[in-house]
Amino acid sequence: MQGNRPTVRLVLAISLDGRLAPPEGGAAQLGGKGDRAVLEQALAWADACLVGAGTLRAHQCTCLIHDPQLLEQRRQEGRPEQPAAVVVSRQAEFPQDWLFFLQPLRRWLIAPSSPKQGFDHWLPLAESWSAQLQTLPGLGVQRLVLLGGAGLAADLLREDVVDELQLSLVPALLGGEHTWLPLDASGLPASLSQPGAWALSETRPLGRDELLVRYRRQRCF
Ligand SMILES: NC(=O)c1ccc[n+]([C@@H]2O[C@H](COP(=O)([O-])OP(=O)(O)OC[C@H]3O[C@@H](n4cnc5c(N)ncnc54)[C@H](OP(=O)(O)O)[C@@H]3O)[C@@H](O)[C@H]2O)c1
Repeated sequence: MQGNRPTVRLVLAISLDGRLAPPEGGAAQLGGKGDRAVLEQALAWADACLVGAGTLRAHQCTCLIHDPQLLEQRRQEGRPEQPAAVVVSRQAEFPQDWLFFLQPLRRWLIAPSSPKQGFDHWLPLAESWSAQLQTLPGLGVQRLVLLGGAGLAADLLREDVVDELQLSLVPALLGGEHTWLPLDASGLPASLSQPGAWALSETRPLGRDELLVRYRRQRCF
């Protein structure tokens, strides 16, 4: 927890030139086996995962923990096997034939109006992410993984409510407009770019030339 809101960890697989999807867009699958393992470890840490509707529309499903040891660990801790999937959208209705609506997890929606079907819980869209995040501990969410995409990540970074970056660097140069922060992302606080803003907390080779880097946000320096 960070005061009265959950700890937020942004988890992305990115190319060496900072893209999270190829130029043509679509459902990006950038990472290999090593990235998949650290993604599942992050999911196992989390009580819930926040995902933008753009990412859900591209994939029509969300990431699940498959590793039996991680599932067993969560069971022993008395937690649900999967973190809740929290979709963020300005609309309330989604095609119900998406695999997402069959996946074995709790589906919550943050949107201006209540969905008619498909979701277990609705959270009204708040005026700011600081306010929105404060609604989550009451639902048992103390640790939140932010799965992107770029639009949603930028929104949270603008309010400086991302506490950790977990980036898997994938050995490819993709080019194109799908940078992991949108090229037009304006209004990021200057404090995010100051020396000492991000402290390196881990580097780990993931095999197949992929590299995990984790940075923790340092707000008091
Ligand atoms: N490499 C990776 O690790 C990774 C991770 C995630 C995504 N991706 C890729 O990224 C691409 C999708 O990213 P994206 O940037 O286009 O989409 P996105 O950020 O996932 O979703 C954008 C949409 O989310 C909703 N949204 C975002 N912020 C909101 C807010 N503050 N309030 C209300 N709704 C909000 C809106 O949905 P509505 O339009 O429904 O209102 C918006 O259009 C795909 O190619 C995907 O494969 C890659």
